[in-house]
Amino acid sequence: MKKEGKQLSVSAIKNGTVIDHIPAKNLFKVISILGLDKFDNQITFGTNLDSKKLGKKAIIKVTEKSFIDDDLNRIALIAPEAKLNIIKDYEVVEKYSAKLPEEIIGIAKCVNPKCITNNENVTTRFLVLSDNNIALKCHYCEKITDQEHMEIQ
Ligand code: CTP
Ligand code: ZN
Repeated sequence: MKKEGKQLSVSAIKNGTVIDHIPAKNLFKVISILGLDKFDNQITFGTNLDSKKLGKKAIIKVTEKSFIDDDLNRIALIAPEAKLNIIKDYEVVEKYSAKLPEEIIGIAKCVNPKCITNNENVTTRFLVLSDNNIALKCHYCEKITDQEHMEIQ
């Protein structure tokens, strides 16, 4: 049921997933790493909404869609504070935090141009170094890719 007296900036949805608490500056990155720009379902979003935690936040609402672990890992890389809310019949039935795993396979690109993953058909593999300011240590060349240089594939 919709909460009484609470004005939503983006309309409530009946069924689907709400990705909330995205730092506003990363909204379009999240849309693109999840492939939502190529998605046919109904998607609504809002950005530069006031947030106590983040200052300005963004929110994405996707109808009739649930996300897989790989998506949660992708989201965690660029929006570590994001929360996913699963909505069934207007109710929030589950909440997940975007969680960084200890290891990331694929998803990101190694910063080192000489790395084997940038020169041969080898999937990237990283150790996740820090939760707060995320950095990825390459399994193959040991170079560290920080947030600023992170390119999501
Ligand atoms: N929401 C929605 N459609 C619904 C139900 C909820 O779009 N039918 C959205 C709400 O607008 C909110 C998010 O899903 O952005 C999570 O809902 P809820 O848990 O009720 O809100 P909060 O308690 O404010 O969330 P949080 O704990 O993440 O602060
Ligand atoms: Zn490397």
